[in-house]
Amino acid sequence: MSARPRIATAPAAKGKPVTLSTLGAKKALGEPIAMVTAYDYPSAQVAEEAGVDVVLVGDSAAMTVLGYPSTVPVTVEEMLMLAAAARRGLRTPLLVGDLPFGSYEVSNEQAVATAQRFVKEAGCDAVKLERGGSSVERARAIVSAGIPVMGHVGLTPQTATALGGYRSQGRTAERALEVALDAKALEGAGCFAIVFEAIPSDLTDEIMPSLHVPVIGIGAGPSTDGQVLVFHDLLGIYDGHAARFVKRYATIREDMIAGVHAFAEDVRARRYPEPDHGYTMAPDERERLRALLAHQA
Ligand code: KIV
Repeated sequence: MSARPRIATAPAAKGKPVTLSTLGAKKALGEPIAMVTAYDYPSAQVAEEAGVDVVLVGDSAAMTVLGYPSTVPVTVEEMLMLAAAARRGLRTPLLVGDLPFGSYEVSNEQAVATAQRFVKEAGCDAVKLERGGSSVERARAIVSAGIPVMGHVGLTPQTATALGGYRSQGRTAERALEVALDAKALEGAGCFAIVFEAIPSDLTDEIMPSLHVPVIGIGAGPSTDGQVLVFHDLLGIYDGHAARFVKRYATIREDMIAGVHAFAEDVRARRYPEPDHGYTMAPDERERLRALLAHQA
C-alpha cells in the first residue's frame, strides 16, 4: 500500500458507485484500493457484498472458468458474455473489462472498436489492456474515444512466451527500467490506473513516487495503492498452479467437492429427497387422477 500516512475517513457508503474520482481520492488519502476479479453473476454479487472497490473481468477467466491452458485463446465474445453477467451482479464497484489477446493490438481502430463493445454490450465502466510499447498508443486512442483505460505492466500473461514464461519481471536494472518506462508511458497516455504484476517490491518502491495514478499490485509488494487477486485463487476454487503472490483466504473447492459428494452419496443411499423436499396432491385429487388414468387404460 501507499507509503503515505493513512488518513482515517468514513468508509464509502455502501451502494454508492465507485468512480475514477473515488479511486484518485483514495490514492491521495492513502486509502488502499481492493480489487478482485469476477466472471459471472454470483461471483460479482460476492464482490459487491464484500465491498471491494474495483471488479475486473480478467482474461484469467480463460484459465479459471473456461479451462484453457493460458489466457491467449479467450475470445471477445466469451469475455463479453462473462462481463455482462458480472455487470448484472454489481451496483457499487467500478467494473473493468479485460481486452483479450488479439482484440486490440492490430490498430487504434481495432482497439477502440473492441473497447466500445465492452462498454456498450457488457456495461463495463472501463477496459484494461496489457503491456507498454504499441499498447500505449492503443490506450491513448481508447481514452480519446471516451473510455477509461487501466494499464498492466510487469508480467503480462498475454505475452508470457515472449517474456520467457510466467516469471517475475524487472529483476535486472535494464528490464526494471523498461517496466518503469512502460508505466510512465501508460500514465502519459491517459490511463486512470495501472496494474503492476509480479515485479520486485524494490522496483515498485522506485516507481511509485513518479506515478500520479493509482497503482494496483499483484505480486508487486506492499507499496502500491491497492492490491488485486484472482477470485478463484483467493477463495481456493482454482486447482491449477498458484503463483507465489497468491494468498488463499478460503478453501471453497474442497467444500464444493464435499457438498457434491455428499449429494451423490445421499442419492445412491436413497437418503435424498426427504419428504420435506417434495410436493403433495390432495387425497381427493389423487383419487380423481386414479380414476382418470383407469379411464385412459
Ligand atoms: O486477468 C486477470 O485476472 C488480471 C489480473 C491478474 C490483474 O489481469
